[in-house]
Parts: sequence; C-alpha cells; structure tokens
Amino acid sequence: MSRYAQARRRNPRYREIPKFLEEFVEDESEKKRKNEELTGKHWLIFIVASCVVAIVSIYLQKSLPEPLGPNEENTRFSEIRAKPILHKLSNIGPKTSGSQACEEDAVNTILEELNKIKPKVELGEHSLEIQTQYPSGCFDIPRFDTDGFGICYKNVSNVIARLGSKHRKWHEEHSAVLINCHYDTWPTSYGGSDDLISCALMMELIRVLGEPRQPPIPHDVIFLFNGAEESSLLAAHGFIVQHPWRHSIKAFINLEASGSGGKELLFQAGPANQWILNSYLEAVVHPHCSVFGQEVFQSGVYPGDTDFRVFRDHGRIPGLDLAFVRNGYWWHTEFDSAELITNGSLQRADIS
Ligand SMILES: *[C@@H]1O[C@H](CO)[C@@H](O)[C@H](O)[C@H]1NC(C)=O
Ligand SMILES: *[C@@H]1O[C@H](CO)[C@@H](O)[C@H](O)[C@H]1NC(C)=O
Ligand SMILES: [Zn+2]
Repeated sequence: MSRYAQARRRNPRYREIPKFLEEFVEDESEKKRKNEELTGKHWLIFIVASCVVAIVSIYLQKSLPEPLGPNEENTRFSEIRAKPILHKLSNIGPKTSGSQACEEDAVNTILEELNKIKPKVELGEHSLEIQTQYPSGCFDIPRFDTDGFGICYKNVSNVIARLGSKHRKWHEEHSAVLINCHYDTWPTSYGGSDDLISCALMMELIRVLGEPRQPPIPHDVIFLFNGAEESSLLAAHGFIVQHPWRHSIKAFINLEASGSGGKELLFQAGPANQWILNSYLEAVVHPHCSVFGQEVFQSGVYPGDTDFRVFRDHGRIPGLDLAFVRNGYWWHTEFDSAELITNGSLQRADIS
C-alpha cells in the first residue's frame, strides 16, 4: 500500500483525490502486482533448473571409478586383484546354508585364499590367524522380520581371520573391529553381490592392511565370513554370542547387498556412538549415506533384516551397515552373479 493510500484510509479528508493522482496510485500498485506474478518465463526457468539438477544427480549416481590394480607400495585397494576370488565363489553356483556348495566348496575356497595371503602378510609385523567355527544355538527373532519366532540352529559355519600385530596376543588386545560378510546365498542366486562382493572386498582389505612393509595396524581387525545369513542371521549370532574373540570387539561394519553392485550405501548406524559415523566420514574414500534406510529398516515396514541387528542386539556393540543397492530387481535372483556387477563397484567400495 502506498503512503498516499495509507493516509487516505486513515483520514477521510484524503478521500477527495485529484484525478491525476488517483491514476498515479492505481498505476503503481498495478505495476507491483505484475512484478509479483509467476509468468511463463519463471516456470520455464524452474523446469530447466530441475531437469539440470536431476540429470547431474543421475550422472553422479551412476558414475563409478575406474578399476585399479595394486600400486608399487601395495597401499592401494585394487578391484582388479579382488575380482578373481569373487568370480570363483560366484561360479560355485547357489550356496544355500547347509548345502555342500556352501559348507564345503565355498568354505574351502575362502580358506584356500586366506592361506595364500597369510605367508605374505606374516613376512612383516602382522599376524593373520585363521579359524573355522561351527556353532549351534537358539535365539528369538522379534516381531520384525516375520511375526516373531524362536529359532534354533545346528553346526552352521563361520570362517574367521584375525589380522593383528605379531607383538600382541589376541587376549591382550582390548579393542578390535569386526567386519562381516556372508558367503551363503539365497537358494535361487549365485550371490555375486549378496554377498560375495563384500567377501572379496574383505580379502582385498587383508592384502592391503597386512602389507609386510607397513608397521602393524594399531587395533586388530576381525574378518568374519559367515555361512548362514539368508536363513535368519544364524551364523552371525553363533559368532557374536559364542566365539572367544567377541569380547574385544568395540565396533563392527556389516557389508551387505539388496541389489547388484553400484555405489555402496551406508544405511544404518549406531545405536548412538556418533564417533563411528564421524570416523566413517573421515576415513572413507567415497562416503555415501542416507538416513532413509535406517528409518525404513527400524520401523519394521521392510520385511528383511541384516546381521546388523544381531550384532547390535545380541552383541551390544555399535556399528555401521553398508549395502550395494543398484539394480535391486536382480537381488535374490539368478542374475545376481559376479559377471553382472558393474565394473568399478568394488573399487568404489574401498573402506581401507
Ligand atoms: C559340522 O559341519 C562340518 C562341516 O560342514 C563337519 O565337518 C562336522 O562333522 C559337522 N559336525 C557335526 C557335529 O555335525
Ligand atoms: C569389466 O572389465 C573387464 C576387464 O577387467 C572386461 O572384460 C569387461 O568387459 C568389463 N565389463 C563391462 C560391463 O564393461
Ligand atoms: Zn545378504
């Protein structure tokens, strides 16, 4: 409202306005109104800007780094070196927990690879202790996954490798980090992404962290390759409530998939312990997180679960849950094989 119009409203004496002034007042407010209106031009700018943002986000979402080989000092994570074991495990075929493919073929392939890495690692200051565990037990699944039930298991398998300093005994070490993958698969799937890519990633981490020319790592890292996840998180439970190494574990990283390759997404963290999230953001080469996953998973809407819940609820330790989520329609199907994982997915997942 113009000053003239305001005065006119307050004081009736201003009601009589000379003709030329009246016109002037009308013109002013008309011009202002026109300026405030959204015209076709504004909408065009808005639509073009939205499209540009969408195209850039899709491009960034799809872009993956070039797969690299190891460098001279062996300090670089290498997808090219990590791939052969991934293909070998995937090519075994579906590996349901309890099947020969899972309990013998996959276990032996993993043990063979670890035993190949061990002598090289132990040339330097590190030790790599390799174990198998065959736990049996019972626990309750809360009203979450399905409708809540008690479950018992017998003789499921775990392959565990502990990387530490040669100068420390494991029982003297008071803080260790657990990294978990599972080598069993859904009955119809080769499990290339769910979850062998994570097991291949862990093997590569051992090769890089255990480099003999490097000083020993400050805290032990326990690599758990578990053999019964798809059948309701059994093997992770067997490890975290029974294995003697569980006592020193202060945090865990669970590596999962609900798709095939792409960018690994951090979708659950905690409980509490902000420091874990901070150290993730500081250390990881390509951080990528979303709070949406945590909301969905912890609300119980999504009918699935990961070993994250077992470590959190039965181990009472905080941790991170990461998953490959691209091409979700391949998840748990015969298309989830090593060949169909986009090149660069593993290179990008480097968490060393
Ligand atoms: C448990 O499984 C392993 C390998 O799958 C086998 O060698 C062992 O005999 C089994 N133990 C029992 C008690 O069934
Ligand atoms: C991925 O890389 C390998 C070589 O490392 C190549 O043979 C293969 O064709 C590539 N796959 C795609 C989809 O580009
Ligand atoms: Zn899985």
